[in-house]
Amino acid sequence: MMENTLNTQSTLAKPAASPAQSQGTQMPNRVVHDFYVRSEADVLGLAVSLARLGRTDQAAIADSAAALVAQIRKQSASPALVDALLQEYGLSAAEGVALMRLSEALIRTPDFDTARLLIRDKLGAADWAGHAGQSPHLLVNQATNSLRLSAAWVRSSGGAAGANLLAKLGDKVLASAIESAMGVMARHFVLGRTIEEAVAHAPQQQGTQILYSYDMLGEAALTAADAARYFEAYKIAAEHIASNSRVTGSATRAPSISVKLSALHPRYELAQADICVPALTARLLDLASIAKAAGFGLTIDAEEVDRLELSLDIFKALLHAPELADWDGLGIVVQAYQRRAVPVIEWLVTEARAAGRLICVRLVKGAYWDSEVKRAQELGLESYPVFTRKENTDVNYLACARLLLDAPDCIYPQFATHNAHTAAAVLHMADASRRLEFQRLHGMGKEMHEVLCGSQGVTSRIYAPVGQHKDLLPYLVRRLLENGANSSFVNQLLDPQTPIETLIADPIAKAQAHDMAANPKLPSPRDQFGGKRLLAAGADLTQRHIADAKQAMLADHAPYKASSIIAGQDAGSVLHPVVNPANPAQQVGVYRAVTGADVAQAAVSAAQSSWPNMPAAARAQCLAKAADLLESDADSFLRLCVLEAGKTLPDAVAEVREAIDFSRYYAREAQQETLADRPPLGVVACISPWNFPLAIFLGQVVAALSVGNTVLAKPAPQTPLIAHLAVK
Ligand code: FAD
Ligand code: 2OP
Repeated sequence: MMENTLNTQSTLAKPAASPAQSQGTQMPNRVVHDFYVRSEADVLGLAVSLARLGRTDQAAIADSAAALVAQIRKQSASPALVDALLQEYGLSAAEGVALMRLSEALIRTPDFDTARLLIRDKLGAADWAGHAGQSPHLLVNQATNSLRLSAAWVRSSGGAAGANLLAKLGDKVLASAIESAMGVMARHFVLGRTIEEAVAHAPQQQGTQILYSYDMLGEAALTAADAARYFEAYKIAAEHIASNSRVTGSATRAPSISVKLSALHPRYELAQADICVPALTARLLDLASIAKAAGFGLTIDAEEVDRLELSLDIFKALLHAPELADWDGLGIVVQAYQRRAVPVIEWLVTEARAAGRLICVRLVKGAYWDSEVKRAQELGLESYPVFTRKENTDVNYLACARLLLDAPDCIYPQFATHNAHTAAAVLHMADASRRLEFQRLHGMGKEMHEVLCGSQGVTSRIYAPVGQHKDLLPYLVRRLLENGANSSFVNQLLDPQTPIETLIADPIAKAQAHDMAANPKLPSPRDQFGGKRLLAAGADLTQRHIADAKQAMLADHAPYKASSIIAGQDAGSVLHPVVNPANPAQQVGVYRAVTGADVAQAAVSAAQSSWPNMPAAARAQCLAKAADLLESDADSFLRLCVLEAGKTLPDAVAEVREAIDFSRYYAREAQQETLADRPPLGVVACISPWNFPLAIFLGQVVAALSVGNTVLAKPAPQTPLIAHLAVK
């Protein structure tokens, strides 16, 4: 077993108090942040030691997982249509990706003309013939035939531009066929369109080992009206469940509702914490009070990683709310793919003990992996907030499971998984008398949970989405990604070619085989161009201590004095004040402007410069150095973006990064043979707008400079200070 370099007793025992921590009300986020910046191997080393699973345990788990898989495969001899479709058209084939894109985009394409262009684009390019007769499911093969015919039709009827009547009619038929296929998918994953319908579908098994957690579809509300509508739907659902479930005793034996906080507030983000945390706490208190009175549970779903700290603040407020005292139905979800999962669980245990309460913790692996990876790349973060190999997530899940199982006094653990190895490992770790439950999503994992209920006598709770087609899209896309990914357990399970040994391969052994290291196929977020050019460093403003530090930096501003620059010398006479557009009382600085005559002199000086005669490589070096200087002094530029141009901090960060990226990009591109040998144009005038006072200003300037031109640069009159700093 790998040497553990971290404190395995309590990772939260590490020091480094953040401002938030010293207020004593929030997650000690600097400690949790450490788990981002430490190497993946380091964090995983801790997970392996926390899981406490030696070779004998691993062998025993493999045996029971193998038995479980054999039973599941026997029971799922004829898979559901949607499963068979996703098996045939998984995400590892171009056709699967085409269908996924089509289904994702078609639902939100309001007009028919765009829809038909989309269908033609996606269907026409793929090779459907390769799938003919491949599925054991008759209906899937029929669908393949239809896709083949449709693609042939699309190709023969004039491509995307074809607009004759026959082509239009054909497209209509095609669009409605695809829409009804989407309907089949929706019905597969959604229990009911309304809470009444969902509860009516559910009760035949209630009172047994099968329980439900109802999720009212809807997330990422963009307006207060949307949030109010979603809240209303939850309230109606809670009241309906209350009047339909006569529960006595522990809420852990009753139904529950699962709530996505992003549905209930349009500004559920750290920058708006002062507004959204109290508002969301109040809304949840309303719903939780209904649940408590009726004796059922409420769980806060886990969403994007940047929401984690806010959700914990809200959870803590509910934990201490006197109205909810003596209720064991309050729950929260933890995502094991997050590097921070272990300290989060330790924090939950500490908080639950401090409050003297039993809380429900649903452990999941996490459903937003693809978008977390993309977000980290887009923001130029130092590392990914999630593990980069599937087995690493699997191992961390086991470490988290151990922590939950070790705290029976305050945690009711709920293991949400469709993976037989994970389930077998959890059962192996749990002592037989231990109270716990397994959970699955409606439309997934049915056979495995039936086996677990039957042979192990465990309780299984079904996460049951409820709602209309229009609110399904993000949820459906996550399910398609999950079911279509060839790394996913459910996908491999259905593939008869995947041997049992592969399905139950031990994640700890797999992680150890590559020294717990991060996935080399996924370069660090800033290294997206394969070593050619590093993306500019970003700042993760969704982390409290980073946002706080940037705010403090903004306050530390001394008035900036700028002037025009001609031939490297300060020039200009007329003095102008520059004020903060968001706060006209604040003078950000002053600048001296030149006259028309000065501009002529500047042009002459630019024309006489030796720059065009420098070798392309030397020019590129200068620009690359400029990029490095910008990056090392990014805060000075951020400050002016905010104070002079009135940008928000996230926009300012994006702006400065873009300027750095432009500089590195042109430095590299200008060395390409075709450009390096081309004579420069001469003196180029660059006139930039105020809304991108650095990125567009510099973008034009460095593009022109990179190929040997000289430049007369004129910033917008509103934003001369940042231009001056950039030129300096
Ligand atoms: P497996 O196939 O063993 O695991 C798949 C998972 O592995 C992926 O989802 C991902 O998390 C991880 N993974 C895949 N590739 C990689 C990689 N390259 N590197 C690192 N990790 C990788 N998800 C949420 O995010 N929030 C919720 O609130 C939530 N609630 C749920 C409630 C229930 C009842 C259930 C059953 C699931 C819920 N989920 C939630 C979804 C859940 O995250 C996925 O269903 C789960 O990850 C699938 O795990 P598995 O053990 O069934 O399958
Ligand atoms: C999701 O919405 C189930 O909460 C999980 O993907």
